[in-house]
Amino acid sequence: MQIINTVSALRLALKNQENIAFVPTMGNLHAGHIHLVTLAKQKAECVVVSIFVNPLQFGANEDLASYPRTLQADCEKLKAAGASIVFTPTVLEMYPDFDGVNLNQTMSIALPSIANELCGTSRPGHFSGVATVVLKLFNMVFLNGVQRATAVFGQKDFQQLFVIKQLVKQFNLPIQIIAGETVREASGLAMSSRNGYLTKEQRQQASQLNAILQNIVVKLKAGHAEFDRLEQEAGATLNEQDWMVDYISIRSAITLSRANGSDSHLVVLAAAKLGNTRLIDNIEFLR
Ligand code: PAJ
Repeated sequence: MQIINTVSALRLALKNQENIAFVPTMGNLHAGHIHLVTLAKQKAECVVVSIFVNPLQFGANEDLASYPRTLQADCEKLKAAGASIVFTPTVLEMYPDFDGVNLNQTMSIALPSIANELCGTSRPGHFSGVATVVLKLFNMVFLNGVQRATAVFGQKDFQQLFVIKQLVKQFNLPIQIIAGETVREASGLAMSSRNGYLTKEQRQQASQLNAILQNIVVKLKAGHAEFDRLEQEAGATLNEQDWMVDYISIRSAITLSRANGSDSHLVVLAAAKLGNTRLIDNIEFLR
């Protein structure tokens, strides 16, 4: 396994590869990330994993500085999982116009209004930052005459996956996007690098987020159709138990617009804070 931190070295290393599967990450890897690497291995012998904590997708009051950076342990996990190349660029390598203070001179992608809903409401600019870095990474990894290009993303970040699929479709990128199922703790808690911020007690309580989504799914499958009420009741239940709910929303899994009575392929998504830690989760299902 090679560890590479410049674009030129990456391109050189990938020069003769015809099939590449790519897994972008921000590091602090857990079993959810490794699941994506395993899926990538099924698509190509050459698996590239990027580790880059992308400043462009963090808001001013978010956890960019404290985001866990565990490169050595990450590389050990990736080697064991069979990754071929770990790409870990510096901020300046990714954003040569970064002046050391802000990213105002950096070009970014303008996204449709869905990027301002759900997580985008409390994280303005987040998905533009994600789409921009992912497009740049695609250009670094794949622009080498690759014949088969695959990139793997997790369903845990359902709205992100949706934005990336739109990016590929709307910018005509010849890249196949594969979705990996959410890997969970035995308690149901979705694995996340941010779970490390939780205290022991909070970690136990955190499984309530998934439990409340499961509860909504059961009710929807049983024929409940008052979406607004289900969302509000679930939000109130969590708020009574020390959570600060950002949103709970029942959406079409196809368009991500608010679900209506005729939609059968649904996703119920939630974001909520436990103490200072913001957690997200979702369940996609047919009814
Ligand atoms: P990060 O949070 O490190 O996640 C990297 C990939 O792992 C994403 O596709 C995410 O959906 C997936 N993932 C995270 N937790 C998962 C879990 N429990 N089960 C399955 N997959 C999981 O998402 C990002 O980084 C960044 O926004 C990135 C796409 C790298 C752009 O900077």
